[in-house]
This record gives sequence, C-alpha cells and structure tokens, in this order.
Amino acid sequence: MITLALAKGRIFEETVPLLAAAGIEPAEDPEKSRKLILGTNRESLRLILVRAADVPTYVQYGAADLGVAGRDLLAEHGGQGLYQPLDLGIACCRMVVAAPEDFDYNAAVRQGARLRVATKYVGTAREHFAAKGVHVDLIHLYGSMELAPLVGLADAIVDLVDTGNTLRANRLRVVEEIMPVSSRLIVNPASLKLQREAIAPIIEAFRKASHG
Ligand code: ATP
Ligand code: PRP
Repeated sequence: MITLALAKGRIFEETVPLLAAAGIEPAEDPEKSRKLILGTNRESLRLILVRAADVPTYVQYGAADLGVAGRDLLAEHGGQGLYQPLDLGIACCRMVVAAPEDFDYNAAVRQGARLRVATKYVGTAREHFAAKGVHVDLIHLYGSMELAPLVGLADAIVDLVDTGNTLRANRLRVVEEIMPVSSRLIVNPASLKLQREAIAPIIEAFRKASHG
C-alpha cells in the first residue's frame, strides 16, 4: 500500500486534477466526509488528510510515502529526510514582508529600528531578516497575520500574498519579497528505495500531469 499525504482545501483541490491525469480518483470528497484516510480507485494507493504544515513530518517519518507541500512550509520544516523531485506548479503565491500603507518601513530599517514582525513562518523570517541585517522581534502567530499590525501587535508581517486582496482590504502593502511559493511533491527516500516499482510511476505521472 502506498500512502499520499495531502492537506484539505487548496492543496487537495489543486492536486486532484494532477491525480486525475494519472487516472487516480479519490473514493470520497474530503469536504463531505470526516474520514482522514481515503481510498482511491487504485487498490494499492490511499490518501491521508493532514494539516498542511504536518505533511512534511508525515513523509519524513515514513507514515506517508509521498506528499504535496508548499515551499513555505518546506522551508519552515527544513526539508531534512525528504526527497523533493518535482515542483508541481500549484498553489502559487509569494512570501513577502508587508506593513501598513502609512508605515515607512524602509526608513525604519535605515534608522536601524528594532521591528516587531508577526508571522507563522518564524524560521524563514529569522533567516530573511538576519541576511539583511534587520533587527526584529518575531511574534509567532498561527493565522490571520494581517490583523497584527492593525491592532498594534506588530509593525510588519511575513505572510503569503496571491491576488493582494487580503493586504488591500486591511490597508497593508508589500515592502519586501522573500520568495515565490508553489507546492512540491515530496517523497520519503527509504520508501522510494524499497518500493521503487510502485512509487516511481506515481512520480512520473505527476511529472507528466504538472508539465503538460
Ligand atoms: P491550515 O488550514 O491547516 O492552517 P493553511 O492555511 O496553511 O493550513 P492552506 O491555506 O490550504 O492551508 O494553504 C496550503 C498551502 O497553499 C500553503 O502552504 C501555501 O503554499 C499555499 N497557499 C496559501 N495561501 C495561498 C493563496 N492565497 N494562493 C495560493 N496559494 C496559497
Ligand atoms: C492565504 C494567506 C493570505 C491570503 C493571501 O490565506 O495567508 O491571508 O491567502 O491571498 P490573497 O493575496 O489572494 O488575498 P487563506 O486564504 O489560505 O486563508 P487561511 O490561511 O487563513 O486559511
């Protein structure tokens, strides 16, 4: 049995067409079922549903053989114990530093101010600001980072932006780019070694589906 770890929502929805191109169909719709293990039309392939940030952990420990995870979460995880053969080109967005429209971020940085930055991506943010020599106190949040500067919790945030609608709606703007983000196929190296005959064709099917 081969196990593929996916997160409900965006990752699941954007992975389904790639699976379909390989002739793989989930037996159930995760939005309608409370099950965390879903069968597929292939007897030897099952899907497990985990939180997006937990996908790398399941694959690292071999509880899942494969998974789909955003580059944002892989950067935060560190990527140890993971083979990353493919950028799937799905769930595309950017990781940025954003601040209130009326906050002069560049001036604050030039003056060497110590900034409070709220984010879910503490490790990535720490590296980014250290590389730029910007002094920051990081505040770890689990979501809705855009709120933090509006209520005085932080001067700036590190978050994902796609259309920019969430930033605009909260009178924030991008002040620095950190990295482009898309989701990757990740594979447990031991699984690949021991079950190459089953896993290599799945990787190839994802490669074909994601590269047209
Ligand atoms: P959870 O719901 O468990 O807190 P999450 O909010 O990180 O997790 P999603 O919002 O489904 O889960 O995001 C999953 C992945 O999709 C992210 O890790 C990121 O790579 C990508 N992503 C997040 N927001 C966007 C967006 N607005 N547009 C495109 N891709 C996005
Ligand atoms: C993500 C991200 C931003 C928003 C950016 O949140 O955390 O808040 O999308 O997208 P935009 O630039 O197109 O507005 P998401 O919609 O996934 O909500 P959640 O993480 O709180 O579930």
